[in-house]
Amino acid sequence: MDKLTVRDADVTGKRVFVRVDFNVPLEDGKVTDDSRIRASLPTIRYLLSQGARVVLASHLGRPDGKVQDGLRLRPVAERLTMLLGRNVPVTGDALGAGTVDAVNRLRNGEALLLENLRFHAEEETDDPEFAQQLADYAEVYVNDAFGTAHRAHASTVGVAKILPAYAGFLMEREIAMLSRLLEDPARPFAAIVGGAKVSGKLKVLDNLVSKVDVLVLGGGMANTFLLAQGKSVGKSLAEHDMVDEARRVLTAAEKAKVQVILPVDVVVAKEVTRGTEYKTIPAEKIPASWHIVDLGVETLGLIQDALAEAKTVFWNGPLGVFEIPSFAHGTKAIARYLAARADDGATVVVGGGDSVAAIQQQGLAERFTHISTGGGASLEFLEGRELPGVAVLRDRPAESPAKGGSKRRRKAQPTTAGTGRGRRA
Ligand code: 3PG
Repeated sequence: MDKLTVRDADVTGKRVFVRVDFNVPLEDGKVTDDSRIRASLPTIRYLLSQGARVVLASHLGRPDGKVQDGLRLRPVAERLTMLLGRNVPVTGDALGAGTVDAVNRLRNGEALLLENLRFHAEEETDDPEFAQQLADYAEVYVNDAFGTAHRAHASTVGVAKILPAYAGFLMEREIAMLSRLLEDPARPFAAIVGGAKVSGKLKVLDNLVSKVDVLVLGGGMANTFLLAQGKSVGKSLAEHDMVDEARRVLTAAEKAKVQVILPVDVVVAKEVTRGTEYKTIPAEKIPASWHIVDLGVETLGLIQDALAEAKTVFWNGPLGVFEIPSFAHGTKAIARYLAARADDGATVVVGGGDSVAAIQQQGLAERFTHISTGGGASLEFLEGRELPGVAVLRDRPAESPAKGGSKRRRKAQPTTAGTGRGRRA
């Protein structure tokens, strides 16, 4: 998958429609995590420095085609203005005469941000007329919204079919880092997959089993695997209808000679709440009325041993009930261990969600090789699927080498973080 990038486009003096993923968390009208905004700065700065007239477009939350004042992009524009050190106004609506006028008044090296695209239901239905209206703003299209590349919406697909469409630097980097995991990982390659449910991760597990040497399963979804191993999990979160699927994954892993690590000891709690009673016990002895809420120390030791030689690690999903500090120890310990492995030269890629929060809370982000800005998008990518927002971008002709692109880089710089969960404002 070799796509033309913004470097390949002639943008000077042109109006460029840039789809970014500024779907960031807000609290009291303020952006609480600006990682996604920062992650798109290289593309925006590059375009401005080339004298492009930049029309930025994003969604925020899921307003379902209706204007919601709490999901306006003004706080995002303010943060972007601060980060860029130049004013980026936000329009009152993504469409309309005022917006057309504001776009037409842009001068070389200036940017504006369209109001939340999802205030129009036509965005999510990829309505051709809506896409055409957006495309009319510009002569060139750039997609830097990796986090939304798994959505076939007007701004991610429709507009890209109308205008010459290029990848932004963030998009390029995400594709390069994640492709490397699937195509050419330095071995041993380990994946740590956590999170609540097997059902959402089944396809990625199916694909990873054929790629990795070590597979660590944690979080709520590991409980379903414990059931598949014939253990009882008390009152823990588990998907009883997925036990056969879990068994199938374990069998596939065995056939492929993948080392699978499941919890051998766990922290169990009387209730899944703060301040409740909890203790660490072997995974065979879960009391009927208790809940599994974290990994035990023995399991952590097993994971660290299994990962000690790994040259590539992919991690997605927390390994316990991370929102409750007493049950976040396993997830946080893994974050620290992986940061140390990255310091040792291993390639460590993190794919979104609460695993990113565990890294950020401990100030470890800079030490990781790559933290994806796409939760859902990175998982779909690692399922081996072509994302619609990527597929539609222009392919690099076989004879034209990338201009200063990711293939020249030896080790990419850590940049970004942030994904779907907890992200809605
Ligand atoms: C995300 O946060 O995962 C992306 O911005 C996509 O948002 P969505 O899941 O609402 O489409």
